[in-house]
Amino acid sequence: MILNSSKQVRLAFVDKHSEVLDGFKHSLVEERPDWSVRFFDDGQHLLSDMERRKYDLVVSDIHLPGLSGGDFLRTVAQKAPETVRVVSYELERQEDVMTHVDVWNQFITKPCEPDMLISVVEESLSIKEKPPGLSAVEVIKNLKRLPTIPAIYLELNRLLSDPNSHPDDIGDVVARDIALTSSLLRIVNSAQIGLRRNVSTPHEAVSFLGVDIVKTLALGAKLFTMCHDQILRLPYLRNLWDHSMCVSGAARKIMKVQGGNRKMVDEAMVAGLLHDAGKLVLATNDPQKTMEVMSLCREKEISLMKAEDLVFGFNHGDVGGVLFRLWGLSGKVVEAVKFHHVPGRSLNKDMSVLAALHVAEMVSQPLGEGSYGQWSQEDINLEYMQSVGMEGDLVDWKRRVDDFE
Ligand SMILES: [Fe+2]
Ligand SMILES: [Fe+2]
Repeated sequence: MILNSSKQVRLAFVDKHSEVLDGFKHSLVEERPDWSVRFFDDGQHLLSDMERRKYDLVVSDIHLPGLSGGDFLRTVAQKAPETVRVVSYELERQEDVMTHVDVWNQFITKPCEPDMLISVVEESLSIKEKPPGLSAVEVIKNLKRLPTIPAIYLELNRLLSDPNSHPDDIGDVVARDIALTSSLLRIVNSAQIGLRRNVSTPHEAVSFLGVDIVKTLALGAKLFTMCHDQILRLPYLRNLWDHSMCVSGAARKIMKVQGGNRKMVDEAMVAGLLHDAGKLVLATNDPQKTMEVMSLCREKEISLMKAEDLVFGFNHGDVGGVLFRLWGLSGKVVEAVKFHHVPGRSLNKDMSVLAALHVAEMVSQPLGEGSYGQWSQEDINLEYMQSVGMEGDLVDWKRRVDDFE
């Protein structure tokens, strides 16, 4: 649907929690006072309203009183097929959202950053230019299965939103999972990331790095421990853990060199650790096609991205971007993971986590034997780097990262 800019956009939100509706209202009144927005606490009321009024887009929670969110959106699809349907959900409900993948066009997690909310609405209504490539929803529909968010991440999230919780509680939760604790400590103490601290318990990690960052690093560590050993033994995934830590450290240093604030530096580190997670998802989803990708890289000497695009129709950046959007990670991290090999495709042309990650990927060690065409010199987008104010070529950046204290 292409909307004429002079036409007023009409939106409806339905959610049983008034504080959620207040949050949406607050974001939209501040940011887009030109939009006409109505709020409903149950689906039946909105359906009755739709008898008299047309909406361009409705946002519905997956769990509504009475009529379920899935059934509500299906009814909207029948009554008003031209209305864009967005499902909203708390992270615990990811599986319910996937069950109803046929009835919604877009999704948002709750709570949702105002920027993310606006951008989902604008993209869904094609008010702003869409980045090329498949949308998140198209990628989801093409994948057989996506991992559900680790329970420990939900537990950490719950603790973070509880005003009575103490930072030590976060450390306690991580410490209960021995494999996770050892992976987390490996990250925090790794020379590649270069935090230069000797941290021996999750509690120390929390007091040194802060709860938010430990929560997301734990998510990255958990992703690797969730993966089947057989997958991690595939030649092009064998060194993925070390490679991810190298890229994480390089992205963190590049962001510091560029003068990014603490949040940007932390997000660059997280994005580096998670950037290639899409490879794990693709290999787990379809080992047969993954073998085809590897043969294509060897035989035709093309980059991994190109081979994935040819075999799957999308690549590991797209998949990681979708996964982390479904899991409600920050918009900057999602954008960086999605476009880390093709930053020119992003609509964001500022110095960002994406820019740091793109260069970090290029200056970090290649992956494993033969490296399966991970990237080549022409994959670095110098024009993009200049446009975001990153002076110098790859050699300069490699030196800056190596020399960084
Ligand atoms: Fe990589
Ligand atoms: Fe990559």
